Amino acid sequence: MKMVLWGVIACVASTSYGVKAFAQQSPQPTQPPPKEQNQQHSTELPPGAGRDTVMRVCSKCHSPNILVANPRDRQGWEDTITKMAGLGAMATDDEFTEILEYLAKNVTPQATAKVNMNKATAAEMESSLELSVKEAEAVVSYRTKNGDFKSLEDVKKVPDVDAKKLDAKKDRLTF
Ligand code: HEC
Repeated sequence: MKMVLWGVIACVASTSYGVKAFAQQSPQPTQPPPKEQNQQHSTELPPGAGRDTVMRVCSKCHSPNILVANPRDRQGWEDTITKMAGLGAMATDDEFTEILEYLAKNVTPQATAKVNMNKATAAEMESSLELSVKEAEAVVSYRTKNGDFKSLEDVKKVPDVDAKKLDAKKDRLTF
């Protein structure tokens, strides 16, 4: 009980001191908190089976975003996982397999490459955005008819394209 009380007092004291010190030192309007700080626990890992396991096992020592920044093929991931296990990453064999499957499917150079929606061919959209042939062709013919897309919202206007698929890949679309 006492400990808690002291904690509260210390907390209030340091907060008000912090505010005072800040007010004295900088008369300018308060700046919004840097975005990165709020997003420390968010990640760019794409959705997919096994993502939770990757988050749990591979974010203990570094941000999981390091994985997205270093896409590689299956062999590359196998080697990396072996190396990380050597460095102390802990998981069961099943979990390591799940992690490998997730990374080999979702964090390869192809799966993380940016796709320019105004330049990509239907075949490219099909393979790298997992659109069906029909959807990819619908996007291209809509583009041919209506001109360049300006944003994701424009692409969502294409009839018969699953908006959820586009949302899932939205970080990779460029215009
Ligand atoms: C016990 C701590 C630890 C855990 C857990 C861990 N890593 Fe690492 N990781 C490191 C260290 C230390 C480095 C930097 C050393 C280096 O680059 O050789 C690193 C660097 C990396 C890099 C960048 C360097 C490279 O090899 O390209 C990747 C990618 C990576 N880790 C992937 C993973 C994956 C995937 C997992 C989950 C299976 C994981 N890490 C879990 C410690 C860890």
